[in-house]
Amino acid sequence: MLNGKTAVVTGGSRGIGAAVARKLASKGADIAIVYSSDDNAAMTVCEEIKKDFSVNCRTYRCDVSDFEEAKKTVTAIKNNFGSIYILVNNAGITRDGLCAMMSEEDFSRVIDVNLVGAFNMIRHCIAGFIRQRGGRIINISSVSGIMGNAGQANYSASKAGLIGLTKSIARELAPRGVTCNAIAPGFILTDMTKDMAQQDEIKARIPLGSIGSAEDVACAAAFLVEASYVTGEVLRVDGGLAM
Ligand code: NAI
Repeated sequence: MLNGKTAVVTGGSRGIGAAVARKLASKGADIAIVYSSDDNAAMTVCEEIKKDFSVNCRTYRCDVSDFEEAKKTVTAIKNNFGSIYILVNNAGITRDGLCAMMSEEDFSRVIDVNLVGAFNMIRHCIAGFIRQRGGRIINISSVSGIMGNAGQANYSASKAGLIGLTKSIARELAPRGVTCNAIAPGFILTDMTKDMAQQDEIKARIPLGSIGSAEDVACAAAFLVEASYVTGEVLRVDGGLAM
């Protein structure tokens, strides 16, 4: 059980992040939800977590791509909760388009949020992890980072980058008893994907024949928190899509 331990979930205000936050709370963890814009959504998830699981939960509005803002947020979380045991880097955006048409801004912004944002949060949490000689870092990558995806050069590069980041951090922190793993979801039904037109065509490409749920990813995150002898792993949660 995770009683007395604090989990930070970036992008915890909805979708996969909210499901991960709820799952870790159900195991007793206190929760810090980091989100970018929707105050009401973050507050609602937070209030539900407190009510349903009787744990402490607080919200922090922060753009994780901003180094100093991320630093202030991590400091505030430590002041409020004491220490951080679990960091889930889930915040992510898409700005899809064929590379031939993609603006520099759309490429950079996706890298900044998805990859630099994860680095920023790890960078500011790392001293605490080393000092306490324990902790769990989980980076939410994507099968796009493994297989590539036409129309997602920026997103796929950011998610592939997260896999390299995960393995390097896993090696750096293994001697301190801290694990770092990635989850690579396939198609998961959330706000990010709900408007995708070709859902039948997508299902036909998935060996298990269905689109995943945020709960499927949350279960994988709970497993990686429990698993003390797994580090540097990329766990696909994709119905077999990328095998
Ligand atoms: P979503 O769009 O529903 O939620 C994204 C979350 O990230 C929101 O809470 C938002 O506040 C937060 N966020 C966005 N920009 C931020 C920033 N600059 N700073 C702080 N927070 C920020 O997304 P969804 O579908 O729940 O995805 C979550 C993660 O899973 C993302 O990293 C996404 O790339 C990844 N993923 C999703 C898949 C899917 O099919 N939905 C498939 C593979 C990976």
